[in-house]
Amino acid sequence: METAEAGAQAQDAMMQEVEVHLRIKRFDPDVDKRPHWEEYFVKLKPSDTVLTALHTVKWTIDGTLSFRRSCAHGVCGSDAMMINGVNRLGCVNLISDVGTSLVIEPVRGLPVIKDLVVDMEPFFAQYRSVMPYLINADDPGYTERRQSPEDRARFDDTTKCILCGACSTSCPVYWANDQYVGPAAIVNAHRFIFDSRDQARAERLEIMNQKSGVWRCRTAFNCTDACPRGIKVTEAIEEVKRAILYDRS
Ligand code: SF4
Ligand code: F3S
Ligand code: FES
Repeated sequence: METAEAGAQAQDAMMQEVEVHLRIKRFDPDVDKRPHWEEYFVKLKPSDTVLTALHTVKWTIDGTLSFRRSCAHGVCGSDAMMINGVNRLGCVNLISDVGTSLVIEPVRGLPVIKDLVVDMEPFFAQYRSVMPYLINADDPGYTERRQSPEDRARFDDTTKCILCGACSTSCPVYWANDQYVGPAAIVNAHRFIFDSRDQARAERLEIMNQKSGVWRCRTAFNCTDACPRGIKVTEAIEEVKRAILYDRS
């Protein structure tokens, strides 16, 4: 009975509006020479998301605030941003998770187009450079390409990537060196390197072995901490390094 009451109280608390203070880094290339901070106060429920906080600012206070979003459910990967110093998706972090005082900035390491919107083209160019598609010249005939559950499990973790960029844009090597392909591209290389149906393993490992590839990683682990899909990013990078060293075919 007490437990049910406590549960009901906790649920009530999540529905009580609280004042949320947002400090948002703003930049409009048409009028600003450099970024500046703007502050906003909005009323929200603890169960609301940071994305809802941004929508509330945009729809009720300042319609010029720019940010990307689409699915609002952690699937499309479009709303990675730095929230209180950590890369996160705005749509899956609740006010009750991140607190009522929010400092929101664009992710680092990519050029800012406006406010929280960054130019993702360098990121997607790095993604394209690892050939993120299955390569297999054999005709599968009238059936699918079969794979055992064990072989499928080998790369399961890296199939979960939603290309949000939270990992690459939290990596100190990526910030400092625009030659580094970045952890997100390596995760997507891993996804095919360890796929038993793929026939381009040697070529993929050669790409990863270039000076833009895995050897730039200094095992900082920021990427793993930032990944909203819980992918073991640093471990995937280490697996690719080991494959280059020990089982290049
Ligand atoms: Fe986002 Fe994780 Fe994919 Fe990096 S590995 S792009 S953080 S989903
Ligand atoms: Fe960067 Fe992750 Fe390596 S943060 S240095 S890619 S472990
Ligand atoms: Fe799609 Fe957040 S809006 S992941």
